[in-house]
Amino acid sequence: MASSVSIKDVAARAGVSVGTVSNVLNRTDGVRTETRARVEAAITELHFVRNESARQLRSRRSRIVAVLVLDVTNPFFTEVASGAEEVLGGAGLSVVLCNSDTDEVRQSRYLQLLTEQRVQGILIVPVGPIAKQVTQLRRHGISTVLLDSKMMDGAACSVSVNDVDGGYRAIQHLLDMGHRRIAFVGGKGRESQVADRAKGAHLAFLHHRGTGGELLSLTVRSLTISGGCEAATQVLEIPAEHRPTAAFCSNDLIALGMLRELSSHGVAVPDDFAIVGYDDIDYAGAASVPLSSVRQPARELGRIAAELLLEEAGDREHHHRQAVLETELVVRESSATSHTSRRRGAPKR
Ligand code: RIB
Repeated sequence: MASSVSIKDVAARAGVSVGTVSNVLNRTDGVRTETRARVEAAITELHFVRNESARQLRSRRSRIVAVLVLDVTNPFFTEVASGAEEVLGGAGLSVVLCNSDTDEVRQSRYLQLLTEQRVQGILIVPVGPIAKQVTQLRRHGISTVLLDSKMMDGAACSVSVNDVDGGYRAIQHLLDMGHRRIAFVGGKGRESQVADRAKGAHLAFLHHRGTGGELLSLTVRSLTISGGCEAATQVLEIPAEHRPTAAFCSNDLIALGMLRELSSHGVAVPDDFAIVGYDDIDYAGAASVPLSSVRQPARELGRIAAELLLEEAGDREHHHRQAVLETELVVRESSATSHTSRRRGAPKR
């Protein structure tokens, strides 16, 4: 509801300039506590409500930053968005969370909508290459930072982790635990970060080729819990003598689905089958068999992406940067049994 009281009325009541009232409204630093209190008292006494649409027209920019992710049902992405919101909220900006559902058409529709809404900026976990869209957004004055992805030509800032190293660590751990037939569970290849995990997994096997063994790639329809159930069914259909004894899943949701489905078929994790996930979402440690996982610093990814966006928005001379963070292998019960000391014999069906 627009207020009939104007920002000038508030300034007059508080005995300050209109600019000071604006600074208080935008939570800008540099306003003395006593002055801020006088302005806030005047806002309350006059029942002032900012006329957002008028402000947007004047500034031609909303105070909104969009975080566009692949799957809002995945706690990894909501943790990333929460980290971004922590930084953006402190700068007086609001965050809207958008879901591309790993669909390029949906992603394009959102980018068009966000351009029309004149958002301040976009943090995006992209589906496929988006260099052209980033250029288009910048023409409309919208800064864009890539999340969980790399911008190889440096045309925008990006924040990601070293997924090749993350995949390597997961397989190295399973090889160290004595496993030789290991499944890698991934999707249809649209996510570059998942492809890098597979690359790291293959690299680890290559570096340990003297130990023999094989890496079996399983493809599921979605990187979700139902995808994990699908992977478990695929494993159970492999004749026992050729069946892998462990799986590295490209995210924790798949790992949790696999854990549930194998357990429901009497397969004991880790005694009959070991599982490692990726992301280390909260549910990983809380699972019925606590899940080993390659931890991504999700909150930090969001914070750094937001800081890069603010840096770019505030500095026309800004130079784009590609921040790459490290992962950490968190070993829990789901892969903690050495294969050599495991119960002999194929897992029960
Ligand atoms: O969306 C698939 C995966 O990519 C997520 O689970 C997270 O690992 C992201 O990097």
